[in-house]
Amino acid sequence: MKLNQSQIQDALLCGQAFVFDEINSTNAYLLEHYQTFEQGTVCLAETQTAGRGRRGRTWFSPESENLYFSILWHYKQEELDNLPALSLVVSLIIAEALQAQNVQDIQIKWPNDVYYQGKKMGGILIETKANREGIHLVIGIGLNLGMAQVDEKIVTQAWSDLSQYHFDRNKLVCDLVQALQKNMKIYPLVGFSHYQERWQTFNIFQNQAVKLIANDHEIHGISRGINEQGELVLEQNGELNTFAIGEMSLRSE
Ligand code: ATP
Ligand code: BTN
Repeated sequence: MKLNQSQIQDALLCGQAFVFDEINSTNAYLLEHYQTFEQGTVCLAETQTAGRGRRGRTWFSPESENLYFSILWHYKQEELDNLPALSLVVSLIIAEALQAQNVQDIQIKWPNDVYYQGKKMGGILIETKANREGIHLVIGIGLNLGMAQVDEKIVTQAWSDLSQYHFDRNKLVCDLVQALQKNMKIYPLVGFSHYQERWQTFNIFQNQAVKLIANDHEIHGISRGINEQGELVLEQNGELNTFAIGEMSLRSE
């Protein structure tokens, strides 16, 4: 079923819903208009011609049952003392919403991926603009509800979708946007520690040997979850060391 603008608009706690059949990127659209669009504005599309992932990678976005959407949120400079951890909050809210719909076997990979049955099912890309009024966040989410076909030149790793659940994608996206808006609102008040324990219950590599791949080197250890700031905790030679969210990829050994 196609995305329904008025149903999505009715579900919003604030802001406007823009629905496109085709767009370059829902993130790009909100970034272009961040100065004029209100808090909570949502952009959704049936397909993206230039869907993007982290570090200039492409997010494969065919016309299908998949969801591609972004939410705009404005924070004052002093409200946001842990911006990087927000992608952990977003992935947690998505995981909890899917679990509430009886999807079993949802996991999260630090810092920004949602896995189903051990394979990548969704991703989160947060992009920002800053000006005198504060920090403007565009929170972009791609979820494979039902992937039509896959281009293996773009999707270069194991992937999964939720096609077996036959979701009403309008209802699901309404639930997700509402839950995300609620949590964006309270995040400055409650901070990341509010989410730490809940996040850990979905950690894909909890207590497993992992490697952290940085630009020119690899860091090895056992995943012991995250700390109150959302930093990765690795046990190395009997010591616990933390690693900040950044340009690194986490993999199983
Ligand atoms: P990390 O954040 O640890 O580097 P990653 O390797 O998944 O994780 P990302 O930049 O988060 O990298 O995601 C982009 C990658 O996701 C692409 O390189 C591609 O292999 C994969 N990908 C692209 N589109 C999809 C899709 N629709 N479903 C699943 N995976 C996808
Ligand atoms: C990743 O895993 O690298 C993040 C993928 C984020 C994809 C979503 S789809 C909706 C929004 N618009 C984009 O161009 N990217 C995000």
